[in-house]
Amino acid sequence: MSQILPHGGVLVNRIAVGEQREALLAEAKALKSITINTWTISDLDLIGVGAFSPLTGFMNEADYRSVVESMRLANGTVWSIPITLAVEEKKAAEFAAGERAALVGEDGVIYGVIDIESIYSVDQKLEAVNVFKTDDLEHPGVQKLLERSSTYVGGAITVLNRPQPEKFKEFYFDPSETRRIFAEKGWKTIVGFQTRNPVHRAHEYIQKTAMEIVDALFLNPLVGETKSDDVPANVRMKSYLALLENYYPKDRVFLGVFPAAMRYAGPREAIFHAIVRKNYGCSHFIVGRDHAGVGDYYGTYEAQDLLKSISAEDLGITPLYFEHSFYCKQCGNMATSKTCPHDKEHHLTLSGTKVRALLRDGVCPPPEFSRPEVAKILIEGMSEQPVG
Ligand code: ADX
Repeated sequence: MSQILPHGGVLVNRIAVGEQREALLAEAKALKSITINTWTISDLDLIGVGAFSPLTGFMNEADYRSVVESMRLANGTVWSIPITLAVEEKKAAEFAAGERAALVGEDGVIYGVIDIESIYSVDQKLEAVNVFKTDDLEHPGVQKLLERSSTYVGGAITVLNRPQPEKFKEFYFDPSETRRIFAEKGWKTIVGFQTRNPVHRAHEYIQKTAMEIVDALFLNPLVGETKSDDVPANVRMKSYLALLENYYPKDRVFLGVFPAAMRYAGPREAIFHAIVRKNYGCSHFIVGRDHAGVGDYYGTYEAQDLLKSISAEDLGITPLYFEHSFYCKQCGNMATSKTCPHDKEHHLTLSGTKVRALLRDGVCPPPEFSRPEVAKILIEGMSEQPVG
């Protein structure tokens, strides 16, 4: 079996190098510019390296409207999350389709250029309702969306400078690199695991259950922007390393970060997460309970149901679905309702709030919930965080 094809068939590469980069950079310095924030820089870079294949740029109007309405690009390829460049209306009026603009960070770095195909204004409430299933401002993804300008600039991009991670640089791999590494290791089937959390026993259980039937696990934590009460990526990275060191076979796990922002779009984000992991070279992708959910906005298995509505051919990566996992005291092991006959009273369940309270007090949650090595790092991480 050969390696899985990227979404749309070709791994996009829009990173300029050598003389082409020098020439574009010189040109970009003289171009009118659009200022982009950290989130947009990460989207730009992920488009550039092909993690968002087949996207070659920020969505033009036709792709955007098609994605919002029907979860497909204008050419029919499945795509669930709008990837867009929001520009203040007044600023956008300086540009016209056909022009090239420089994309400049708040730090003054020219991260890339965009060849503008369309400038369009959108109904963000409609986008919110279709993508997030709500326009409630309490939803962190909706909040982010509605605070942006509703004028979008679409078109192909070229990356000229790449964002530089401050820490854990050695865990940043482009899709072309993960694909090469997986091939070198001789792995044919690789299961991707998305997480924005520390890996607790329930996560470990579903990962290892999946590992029983594939060659390897690609632990691919999201380390871009998350909401402020999620555990910071630097602390999580330490916890993943401790976990892998103590509990995982070294030759069957690969840790690499996913430097994207978290959207909290539940079902639609699950599709997006699966497609991106396909681009990184995964053949399988884990989807458990309330994947990419937040609060009570999505049903426990809504993400799984939406994924199941897409044909295997259109998705191209095989989702592995897991039920809500827990430790059962009667069984004496991790289980789900598929494998455990006991009542809820025998199950160890701790809410996120309860776990955070324990950690804040310097108390390790029970080992049936979290490995002590992980809990210790989270407790240390809590005390490092600013109060307030
Ligand atoms: S997510 O926002 O990145 O999806 P999280 O890091 O909590 O959140 O979850 C990572 C993956 O593990 C998701 O596929 C999620 O559905 C799954 N998952 C998390 N907790 C459980 C659990 N207790 N039982 C089954 N699956 C779970």
